[in-house]
Amino acid sequence: MCKFVISGGQTLRGELTVSGSKNAALPIVSAALLAEGPCTIENIPNIADVQSMLDILKKLGANVEELDRNTIRIDATQVTSHEATFDLVSKLRGSYYLMGAFLGRFGQAVVALPGGCKLGTRPIDQHLKGFQALGVDIVEAYGKVTAKAYDASGILHGNNIYLDVVSVGATINLMLAACKAAGQTVIENCAREPHVVDVANFLNSMGAKIRGAGTDIIKITGVPKLHGVEMYSIIPDQIEAGTYMIAAAATGGEITIKNIIPRHQESLTAKLQEMSIGIEEGEDWIRIYNNGSVSAAHVKTLPYPGFPTDMQPQITVLLSQADGTSKIVEGVTDFRFQYTEELKRMGADITVNGKMAMVSGPKNLKGTIVRAPDLRGGAALVIAALMAEGDTVIQDVQFIDRGYDNIVGKLQSVGAKIVRVEDDN
Ligand code: EPU
Repeated sequence: MCKFVISGGQTLRGELTVSGSKNAALPIVSAALLAEGPCTIENIPNIADVQSMLDILKKLGANVEELDRNTIRIDATQVTSHEATFDLVSKLRGSYYLMGAFLGRFGQAVVALPGGCKLGTRPIDQHLKGFQALGVDIVEAYGKVTAKAYDASGILHGNNIYLDVVSVGATINLMLAACKAAGQTVIENCAREPHVVDVANFLNSMGAKIRGAGTDIIKITGVPKLHGVEMYSIIPDQIEAGTYMIAAAATGGEITIKNIIPRHQESLTAKLQEMSIGIEEGEDWIRIYNNGSVSAAHVKTLPYPGFPTDMQPQITVLLSQADGTSKIVEGVTDFRFQYTEELKRMGADITVNGKMAMVSGPKNLKGTIVRAPDLRGGAALVIAALMAEGDTVIQDVQFIDRGYDNIVGKLQSVGAKIVRVEDDN
């Protein structure tokens, strides 16, 4: 176990390069299970969740070579197992992608129910409903899902699927399962996140026929085989980029963020501009600066292209410094306000009522000992600590390590006083 010790009050200045997207990398690594032949993938983020997923593939018998810090070659040709037990999948929620990949490859899957951050009830009923529509019998019992194609040859059959809720996980999982199914699959009311498009692009580079990713209707024409990929580069992580954008604004600094797709940040840049934060952007960079006060604003999280739920904790920290009262409504997950209890102990004025928080500012934050409750809540506390007077100790940083590649080194490079130390407790 480690903790971060952060001495607040430094103005962040300089340049930062964003790593590859966590939420694209997890399904893309799982998708490599579908290929006959090796897949070389670059811009892989060096984070705990991806390491856990690679460990699962290795234990299943895949050959995984780390060519450099951010490039891997996966050859899953020899994998014969379609089972992932709890000890393999307990560390991360993204392990549900093994269901779609196993079904696409073997026509059957036995996968324990996933772990991950505790953000309220997070059912996977839409994944399972979609698999059933593709001709799969599902039994959910004793903490695992057992899925098997009705067709004795193990082939899934294309069908029309309408998702009752817009779900990133279900959209991607159904693409994984359907790309080798017989006939055509049409998924309606799909998630449109950039990482959904990235996974579709990766599958297409393996020979899949997926059209419409990035819109709310995806059409998949099944193909009998998928081949390896010579080189595929994962898109930049929009949430990592957004976190550093807010860190720059929160410390009154100026940071240029590189290796970024500015279009993916639009809901955040629009909101920051509304809050009087300065933004300039080019083809693959964004510069953020904050020379003065922050204006209050209302935020509601929604599926892409709406404001991302994964940025809700970070923007709330910035709003605690705004002039006036801001309302934050969580429109995607059941509950994602655990971090506010820690933030209040640092001096923020926040009242949570169900899926809504009211935050009034500006309030001076003071360093203390806090605990990261989950990945993005932990990132929000890092931003709060960077602004706070005095030292903040953040415990349970294993949550932050799940999704941020070298956060300590990157923040130090722009002037933050942050160190990682072993937590004796
Ligand atoms: N939902 C259902 N049934 C389903 C699936 C989803 O009711 O079958 C509901 C749940 O209430 C859930 C909401 O829909 O809260 C959104 O679920 P979605 O499937 O879109 O989310 P997810 O696949 O569980 C991914 C990311 C999350 C991110 C959300 C929303 C991965 C591994 N996780 O989760 O990332 O918050 O999409 O964009 O891709 C994070 O990175 O910190 C993180 C939590």
